[in-house]
Amino acid sequence: MDKTQWIWFDGELVPWDNAQIHVLTHTLHYGGGAFEGIRAYETERGPAIFRLKEHIERLIYSAKAVGMEPTFDCDAICQAVVDTVRQNSLKSCYVRPIFFYGYGKMGINPKGAPVRLAIACWPWGRYLPHEAVDIKVSSYIRIHPKSTIADAKVCGHYVNSMMAVLELAGSKYHEALLLDHTGNIAEGPGENIFFVFDNTIKTPTRNSILPGITRSTIIEVAKSHGYTIEETSLSVEEACKAQEAFFTGTAAEVTPIRSIDDDVFGDGNPGPVSLKIKQEYQDIVSGKNPDYEKYLTIVE
Ligand SMILES: Cc1ncc(COP(=O)(O)O)c(C=O)c1O
Repeated sequence: MDKTQWIWFDGELVPWDNAQIHVLTHTLHYGGGAFEGIRAYETERGPAIFRLKEHIERLIYSAKAVGMEPTFDCDAICQAVVDTVRQNSLKSCYVRPIFFYGYGKMGINPKGAPVRLAIACWPWGRYLPHEAVDIKVSSYIRIHPKSTIADAKVCGHYVNSMMAVLELAGSKYHEALLLDHTGNIAEGPGENIFFVFDNTIKTPTRNSILPGITRSTIIEVAKSHGYTIEETSLSVEEACKAQEAFFTGTAAEVTPIRSIDDDVFGDGNPGPVSLKIKQEYQDIVSGKNPDYEKYLTIVE
């Protein structure tokens, strides 16, 4: 990770090395925190933060899911993100806000522990650095929707994603695919998934996924190009009959999928629909499509 200069911490910008916490920080032990991953892209008018408000609304939703009373409201957090990106003088970056329970209370019940908020940002290139990825169905299933508030972006949920990633580390596969508790496709460890069947693009329902902000953008883009979007249950067998597949996510952006469990889509090259959507997404986030200007917060 490339170190930057400033981290916003509970209302003020502090030097990167000073943004420290105690080892008895509650969230470090029990995972009850909430975070976001946001990207800011270089544009001719300065860095543009993509769908900032939606990310911060989800951050607040996730913080409330773990019983927090957020200490800053949506507008104040959006402003803090803008200030952090501006003060670090970055043309483009990844932004990581995190709400966590701090030091001062042990035991599982977090009530009484201070609620803290930090916002860091740093340059981050491609998360999945391949033109198309080979993925493998994980032996771990995605967290059961009744085990937690599973559509919140809660720190502890990421043990599930991490186990799936660790299982494949060092193998020929680039990313994992988690099934849900019914055996249908859920999502990647940090990505949503889409399958192209002619003019219909299918994606798993919201039941057992993190409903991604990129996912909703891609649904909007695909519909505007005349594709039918079906949010539906999909078995691996059925999904493998698609002509194309791709992942979406803030970190992964739009990443074509080459194969699932060695079953290759098409001729193994990224398909035309995936490439078109990937290009359109790049144009949108970098301020080249006026129809999606509404999603950009320019840092002046
Ligand atoms: C488990 C999971 N699914 C999906 C996504 C994609 O969500 P978004 O497009 O909002 O980044 C992420 C990324 O945050 C994720 O962690």
